[in-house]
Amino acid sequence: MLGNLKPQAPDKILALMGEFRADPRQGKIDLGVGVYKDATGHTPIMRAVHAAEQRMLETETTKTYAGLSGEPEFHKAMGELILGDGLRPETTATLATVGGTGAIRQALELARMANPDLRVFVSDPTWPNHVSIMNFMGLPVQTYRYFDAETRGVDFEGMKADIATAKKGDVVLLHGCCHNPTGANLTLEQWAEVASVLEQTGALPLIDLAYQGFGDGLEEDAAGTRLIASRIPEVLIAASCSKNFGIYRERTGCLLALCADAATRELAQGAMAFLNRQTYSFPPFHGAKIVSTVLNTPELRADWMAELEAVRGGMLRLREQLAGELRDLSGSDRFGFVAQHRGMFSRLGATPEQVKRIKEEFGIYMVGDSRINIAGLNDSTIPILARAIIEAGV
Ligand code: LMR
Repeated sequence: MLGNLKPQAPDKILALMGEFRADPRQGKIDLGVGVYKDATGHTPIMRAVHAAEQRMLETETTKTYAGLSGEPEFHKAMGELILGDGLRPETTATLATVGGTGAIRQALELARMANPDLRVFVSDPTWPNHVSIMNFMGLPVQTYRYFDAETRGVDFEGMKADIATAKKGDVVLLHGCCHNPTGANLTLEQWAEVASVLEQTGALPLIDLAYQGFGDGLEEDAAGTRLIASRIPEVLIAASCSKNFGIYRERTGCLLALCADAATRELAQGAMAFLNRQTYSFPPFHGAKIVSTVLNTPELRADWMAELEAVRGGMLRLREQLAGELRDLSGSDRFGFVAQHRGMFSRLGATPEQVKRIKEEFGIYMVGDSRINIAGLNDSTIPILARAIIEAGV
């Protein structure tokens, strides 16, 4: 029977990871998968995460099952981190999930349970796995214009016009901050306009918040999400702790369902717990406990925030440096967008042939759509990348 299975196309980002590992060249540079790396290329365990794990090791006395939806302390800590003062616990259902991807999957399952005929609107482009999951689930996907290939900024008029065609019962997937793969983001004024369009259509926003703290700061990166939450009666938020806590392999994330009233919250919470039970039963505990320990222990929280700020500041400096190097080499400001973009990624706007040439000639790996992971760079690799970009004719 299993011989009937069809070969699956490998995920492009994960395939690139394998290709990079197999490349024997000494000076190869990995700008592929979205993992933070320090200047030595190492993905460190954050100090506060390490300290929280030490405390857990000393104080935990059991590994028995915990909550099917996750732990209340994790729900509260994440709700406050994402929504700040805007958190309304009486109308918010929360689910601990297997990473941010698990939250996306459960969000789509939940929305489909509520409306089997939904369509999902996604930005063009979006994280490839968004579309892959939707296709696998058999959900109709519509793209809305997002990236302006000319300016490498947001085609906001196109975006608004396309989102306006969504209907009540549809889902509009938005990136809360640090758009993946482009790095081009909405201003707060634009978020307000998106909220107006959503109000008119009655569509359900699903916000993917995978990089809070990697763009303009923890509060700033949540501002668009908070604005939508303050204006739209029902909102889904899929949050990841992989990046901002650096706990990628712990698979920690959560789904928030902001509901119009307490009775709907009750329904949503029940449906979400059911979804966990049907998919994998209990969600992972360890990473969620790390996160709630860090967020609820003042000294750990302060240290985590300081380290996250240093990570964010480091990426901003790398952006400035790369933009500066490209300005010098090209004698123009056409790469200024690199410094304007936020988060881990920038889409350079190179053709697939140019991306291939940069990989083959220079050993620099970026995703085929010319997305680079800024955190994969350091002082010595920036000039190498800049030269490759110019020589490839980008
Ligand atoms: C990425 O976009 O590189 C990350 O979100 C990692 C992944 O799973 O693709």
